[in-house]
Amino acid sequence: MTGNVRPETMARITTPELAQAFIDEQAQELRSQIGDKKVLLALSGGVDSSVVAALLIKAIGKQLVCVHVNHGLLRKGEPEQVIEVFRNQMNANLVYVDAVDRFLDKLAGVADPEQKRKIIGAEFIRVFEEEARKLDGIEFLGQGTIYPDILESDGVKAHHNVGGLPEDLQFELVEPVKLLFKDEVRVVGKALGLPDNMVFRQPFPGPGLGVRCLGAITRDRLECVRESDAILREEFAKNGLEGKVWQYFTVVPDFKSVGVKNGKRTFAYPVILRAVNTTDAMTATVEDVPFSLLEHITDRITHEVDGVNRVLFDLTPKPCATIEWE
Ligand code: XMP
Repeated sequence: MTGNVRPETMARITTPELAQAFIDEQAQELRSQIGDKKVLLALSGGVDSSVVAALLIKAIGKQLVCVHVNHGLLRKGEPEQVIEVFRNQMNANLVYVDAVDRFLDKLAGVADPEQKRKIIGAEFIRVFEEEARKLDGIEFLGQGTIYPDILESDGVKAHHNVGGLPEDLQFELVEPVKLLFKDEVRVVGKALGLPDNMVFRQPFPGPGLGVRCLGAITRDRLECVRESDAILREEFAKNGLEGKVWQYFTVVPDFKSVGVKNGKRTFAYPVILRAVNTTDAMTATVEDVPFSLLEHITDRITHEVDGVNRVLFDLTPKPCATIEWE
């Protein structure tokens, strides 16, 4: 796609037929732009990068090299799903980088939220750059830029906001969905055969679970966040709230409280549940989750997640709270 302004005549992609026409046209354009060269893409497993990956796989197959960096701050099952969908089902050229220790070692002892974000962003660029240097013949960089990124900022995705790749790694950009709105990206993703839980998933911050493991991240609390988040998502899905509530997640603060289990005193972490609705993330209201479901989720988390003895529900709208806790 050329130009950064969406033509007024461009029809909104709302149906599988319109999505298919877009895919066919883009595949053609991508083939003529890329020729027999290679494209590198950071594939997080989020909607935008997944749709760009699927589109490029359709257009140029193995000339696309996807790099999935597991920084240890992804939700339960996400790295596995990226491997399953892209390597096993779509037969993509996928480099999986286990960078968990690298990220968690860098983050050890760092409590300041903005510092944590900077470290995660900078380390991501470093890992990606190292992988890029190992590969020969890459001339293009795929990016999941979408139209709101262009309208709201300088067109650079949030997790790349610490600066880009070094001078000698300046690739030509390939941004096939840069004129699409989020709902259109989802329709295209569905037409490309991506699974619903990838295409319709709730927003997930670039720094991932790192901003939900409050203060200095420790591995035990990070596991509490990941496991409790998985239970919350499973219960919301079972109870018809998936796709209805805009964003829901769990947070684990860096303090403990006293409890009692099997007649013995415990000293363990609380888990905070958050479920909000919004249209633009500038303001948000709290979802009225049925009390019986909250009780059931509390019961599951306190029994199934090690190191947790208390569950709280955050009743605060935005403002005066933000959606995330840091
Ligand atoms: P807040 O907490 O500011 O969040 O009310 C608004 C929306 O933005 C997401 N969010 C982030 N997304 N990088 C991201 O890519 C970040 O650092 C970040 N912080 C917050 C948040 O999940 C919510 O959807």
